[in-house]
Amino acid sequence: MAAPEDAHPHLVVFDHPLIQHKMAYLRDVATSHRPFRALLYQIAGLMVFEVTRSFPTSVVQVQTPLERIDAHRITATITVVPVLRAGLCMAEGILEMMPEARVGHLGLSRDEQTLKPVVYLRKLPRDLDAGPVVLVDPMLATGGSAIQAITLLKEAGARDLRMICLVAAPEGVSSLAAAHPDVRIYAAALDRQLNERGFILPGLGDAGDRMYGTV
Ligand code: PRP
Repeated sequence: MAAPEDAHPHLVVFDHPLIQHKMAYLRDVATSHRPFRALLYQIAGLMVFEVTRSFPTSVVQVQTPLERIDAHRITATITVVPVLRAGLCMAEGILEMMPEARVGHLGLSRDEQTLKPVVYLRKLPRDLDAGPVVLVDPMLATGGSAIQAITLLKEAGARDLRMICLVAAPEGVSSLAAAHPDVRIYAAALDRQLNERGFILPGLGDAGDRMYGTV
């Protein structure tokens, strides 16, 4: 069987058993908002390991109890940007692993009729070109929100961008890759398709509503 990356060269899909195990609980309609939030947090934390693989490091001198050595530290200024609301829990899980990262916020809501994103909040650090920027949103459906978010981040100066999501639809991956071919997409799962209302199938429902119990 062809790997998802063959059809979508900009996409990295996680096939790790622990992530798939947690995704099974996350998708389950019987999972309520409290464990749903915990799962988003945990899966995002696990994904950080691969998402940060390309981050630059600098050599620093460290004195161990026995010797002085050359060690490596990530010295770049990292910015994590969750898309409200659904990106918030994932961002917290990422920050658990990278507590020194800065956080920018983008408020985007998808109009249920047109499926187009509406921007309602934009609060970003001024020097987004200071280092890697990680856009965080659990759902990549039509791709409209991610395309808009990355356009806003580039307008604000971001140069080194990647996106982390949980569930991606093939339609959204293709649209995002066409609009922003420089941005690598990391997803815990590549799902089958969108339905006529723009929901990902099989998906996990509306992540924002499930996170906060507003279903
Ligand atoms: C969802 C999701 C993405 C967007 C994806 O947000 O979290 O931001 O839709 O759809 P797209 O790829 O078709 O643009 P939603 O509008 O439901 O807002 P919420 O997080 O506040 O629930």
